[in-house]
Amino acid sequence: MDEKVRIGVIGSGFAAHFHLASYRKVYGEAFEVVALCSRNRPQAAALAQAFDVPRIVDDIDALLADPMIDVVDICVPNHLHIELTIRAAQHGKHIICEKPLGGFFGPVGAGETWSADGFSRRAMLDSVMEQSVRVQDAVARAGVTFCYGENWVYAPPITKLNRLMAASASVIMRIEGEESHSGSHAAYARHWSTAGGGSLLRLCVHPIGAALFLKYEEGRRRGGVPIRPVSVIAHAAQLSAIAAFQQQEPKHIGTGWQDVEDFASLIVTFDDGSVAQLTSTDTRLGGIRNFLSAYGSRAVVTANINPNTACQAYTPDGAYFDSEYLVEKTETKEGWSFPAPDEDAVTGYPEELRDFLGAIREGRAPKSDLMLAMDVMEIVYAAYLSAESGTRVTLASFSG
Ligand SMILES: NC(=O)c1ccc[n+]([C@@H]2O[C@H](COP(=O)([O-])OP(=O)(O)OC[C@H]3O[C@@H](n4cnc5c(N)ncnc54)[C@H](O)[C@@H]3O)[C@@H](O)[C@H]2O)c1
Repeated sequence: MDEKVRIGVIGSGFAAHFHLASYRKVYGEAFEVVALCSRNRPQAAALAQAFDVPRIVDDIDALLADPMIDVVDICVPNHLHIELTIRAAQHGKHIICEKPLGGFFGPVGAGETWSADGFSRRAMLDSVMEQSVRVQDAVARAGVTFCYGENWVYAPPITKLNRLMAASASVIMRIEGEESHSGSHAAYARHWSTAGGGSLLRLCVHPIGAALFLKYEEGRRRGGVPIRPVSVIAHAAQLSAIAAFQQQEPKHIGTGWQDVEDFASLIVTFDDGSVAQLTSTDTRLGGIRNFLSAYGSRAVVTANINPNTACQAYTPDGAYFDSEYLVEKTETKEGWSFPAPDEDAVTGYPEELRDFLGAIREGRAPKSDLMLAMDVMEIVYAAYLSAESGTRVTLASFSG
């Protein structure tokens, strides 16, 4: 592709906002966001005006059929990702899809009142595996590029960690990572039928994705072949159901979780015998905690995406900072805090979009690709199965 890459963003909520803000920080690529597609007109109009998007389209079919659009950037809820991705591929569009690739939201026709309590995790895993295969087929048949929106792959601290592991020729023996905060505020996140799972699917996909990417990269450096995940063992729980917490007021931690977990921890084993210990919870006070450590044979590196100490601030009264954003999910601005100087950049969004645009233009796979998206989905739902059965789950490619 020689000319400008023309993008149509689908959705006008939180993710659409940070994508549009981050496109502005992408350098060295010729592209234009030509349309914004949303069923929420006022929200779309405000966003289009803020980011100079020339056209708002109400109908997704019209956007997909538009020959003036090369790429669709999918920023809508998880349950729409798979079908939108497949339809976009069928229309010959390249795809940028926010995490996760898909998920299980209940049996066909179950509706939003369906509960995941007691529902077979094996059936969920089988369903997401089938979704992955359908996406893989559609993308391969159309010959389009699929870009998986795992920003941790591009977060500068993770990039540096990867470079230091490469420079030291380290064997990464153990990875430890976490994404946690004090609880999503969104109503959809409290039900499996609308979220596809709990903290494991919403939050842990990030450290899982970054851990897999680091092992893929190590394998490519050493033998040209990515080191792949083999098995998962996991525990999931609702920590906010602890009786003493239920009785305590006031609460500073999210509550109201229905059939979803607010804590999960898993160990992924790789084909070289190394391990990744990954955790997510909606019960952690103190602002968002996004970190990943790699324990290598010649170096140990910790990537503190959030919080990090690039900026440290103190105020005796949080009200003094009312007009200024500090950092995601902090409960208070009072006392010492760690304001993110440029949260989009440290989180990796501009670099992610820059790689995606380059990949689409050059016809190569992005660093965060479909294999990563599929492996993450399988690991998440294999972890749910492991948590249900209390046993280790072998991943499909290795189950023989
Ligand atoms: N990479 C990250 O760090 C990150 C952070 C937040 C969200 N996300 C992902 O972004 C996606 C969107 O999340 P969000 O936080 O922006 O949600 P949101 O609720 O803020 O926005 C969702 C948008 O989708 C639109 N929408 C909802 N249902 C629709 C439908 N049936 N048809 C068409 N449009 C529909 C809504 O009008 C809204 O514009 C999710 O998949 C989420 O996992 C990623």
